[in-house]
Order: sequence, then C-alpha cells, then structure tokens
Amino acid sequence: MNNSHLADIVKTSQGNYRIIVGHNILDSLPKELNSCINNKKIFLIADKALFPKQVLELSELLEKNGFYTNILSVDFNESNKNIETVRYIYSWLAEMLVERKDTIVSFGGGVTGDVVGYVASTWLRGVPYIQIPTTLAAMADASIGGKVGINLDSGKNLIGSFYQPKLVFQDLKFLSTLPKREFDSGWAEVIKHGLILDKNLFFELENIGKIEQKDISDRKIINIVKKSAKIKSEIISGDEFEEGNRILLNYGHTIGHALEKITEYKKFLHGEAVSIGMIVAAKISKKIGLINSKTVKRQQDILKKFNLPVTLNFDKTEMIIQSTRIDKKSTDGNIRWVLLNDIGHATTKTKIHENIIISCIRDTITP
Ligand code: GLY
Repeated sequence: MNNSHLADIVKTSQGNYRIIVGHNILDSLPKELNSCINNKKIFLIADKALFPKQVLELSELLEKNGFYTNILSVDFNESNKNIETVRYIYSWLAEMLVERKDTIVSFGGGVTGDVVGYVASTWLRGVPYIQIPTTLAAMADASIGGKVGINLDSGKNLIGSFYQPKLVFQDLKFLSTLPKREFDSGWAEVIKHGLILDKNLFFELENIGKIEQKDISDRKIINIVKKSAKIKSEIISGDEFEEGNRILLNYGHTIGHALEKITEYKKFLHGEAVSIGMIVAAKISKKIGLINSKTVKRQQDILKKFNLPVTLNFDKTEMIIQSTRIDKKSTDGNIRWVLLNDIGHATTKTKIHENIIISCIRDTITP
C-alpha cells in the first residue's frame, strides 16, 4: 500500500481506519477500498450540489476496477438534515435490496457525511461506509471520527451515534470547484485545531500568505490539511466516545450551533457560525482571566485573514442564550464551555455566569 498520502490511522473500538489526504489521488481509491472492505457492491450516495461529471467519474473509476455501483443523488442541506431525508434514503436502500455486507459511500460535504453515516449506522443494524468528503469543512472535521446524525426541530445533531467509517478519502481537487464562501468557511475548523491543540499549526496559518482555491495543489497547503486531519485523528483515537479530550473539538460550537439554529440554518455556513462562536468563547476566556487581549486579537486577526466573520450584525442575544440551554455538552443542566487558556491549549469550564456570556455576545455585535 502506498503510504505517501496517509495522514494517519484512526484507532477505534469499531476498528482502525486510514485517512488519505492528497491532490488528484482518486486513482488510488480502488486499492484503498480493496484493503478495507470485502464486498464489491457499492451504494454511492452523493450530494446533488456536486457536478454530475464528478459523480460519474467516481462511479466509472470504481466500475473499471471491478466494483458494482448504484448511485443516489440527494439534495443535502442543513435544513433537510432530518428524519424525512433519512426515510427517503432508507426507501432507496430497500428498493435496491442492500445487504449487510454491501458498502455505502458518502460523497459530499459535512451534511452528506452526517446523514449518510447515520443511515449506514442504522440500516440492517449497521453496514460498512466510506467517507469521501468534498468540502474543506468536512475534510478537516466531520468526515473523521464517526459522529453521524441528524437535526431535530429542538436542536442540531440531537439524534445520532458514534459509527466509524472504514476509510476517509480526501482528494483536495474537489475543493477547486466549491463556491468561494464554502471554501473560506472550511478554514474555521482547521484554525480551530491550531487554537485548541497545536500552536505550531496556528503559527503556520498565521505566517502563510493568502490561500486561494487555485493554490489547493500546493504541497504546503496539502500538508496543512494533512496536519489538521492528524490532530483530529489523534483525539479520536484517544477518546472515541467524547468522555475526555474530544470535547475540546467543540470549541466555538456552543454559540455556533445556537446561531445556526436561531437563523434556521439559512444565514450562516457552519464554519462561519463556528468562527463567531470562537470569538465569543475567546472573549469569555479573557473575561474569566484565562487569556489576555493580545491572544483574543490574534485569534480575531487570523479568522479575518481567512475571510471568516468575527462580528454579529443582529441582536438576538436572548434567543442565543435560550438555544444554548439544549446543548449536547450540558451536564446536570450546566453548559460545559470549551475555552482557551493559550494558543494551542483549550480547557472546559462549567458554571460560567450567564451575565458573562450575555456581555460577551453583546460585545460581538456590530453597532
Ligand atoms: N466535530 C467534533 C467531533 O467530531 O468530535
């Protein structure tokens, strides 16, 4: 097996799996598949937002290499990441007589991976699945670690499971055709990894020039995505079920998820909401004495450099607070806040007084 594109091997109780990261590496996919699945029947579930050419290219490559593929194209987005979409996919799997040894491939962004992974975890009590993410946000975060699920009206990702894929295959060539806003928003998760766990990655992001989509084949950029994947992989290998350090990956997500929910998933892309969430979290960290204003500014500057939003242009503080109360990270009704105590170091705190949260949200609103 060629290991030059191997970012890391995730080690979990459900089995170990490889994360492959590179540019223009699709040709190596069949070999990777042969090493992790036994059956040749593939059910490819793709996001409709992809160009038909991209889906056909993938299916033809698989067919040429001895796999049998069936394709379902679904219009995945945050507002239909729900039980209705799951039901629709179940009907297709039933029609196709998908068996327990068959493999489901998720081909698309974060929502695609979460929904398809959830379907794979429940169809016939679980069938093998592969993640082929096509957005930067999904590459950096959602495709790794087996968090699969759907939203409920009362909150984001409230239904779901930990169900690990057999392979995560990231070809950065898919990033070149993303809408620019989608591309930019993906950097939030990469920056988050630097902020919470790896100051060297953060320095690298601070020092690199502007990253544009046309540069995505650049070795330096591929290495940054690889490093980010390795950071996530190491966390998952050490804490598959979020009983320890995995919670740190939720930095910026308590406010981020609340923002997405109160705007009905229509105003912010996930990375944009997380960016504002990280701003509020850094302000809380400063307010309780964990970091100084220089660190808050460094975080703000890097987010701005990657074209991410750092302010709110509406005042819905009450709704945000209300929405954080159903956060999955709550214990005994207390929200566990992920906060920063330095660049490259995060921690958790409960019992942060609501007035502190309110003032940090208000401080993020542009007048
Ligand atoms: N997205 C956070 C995690 O996978 O734990």
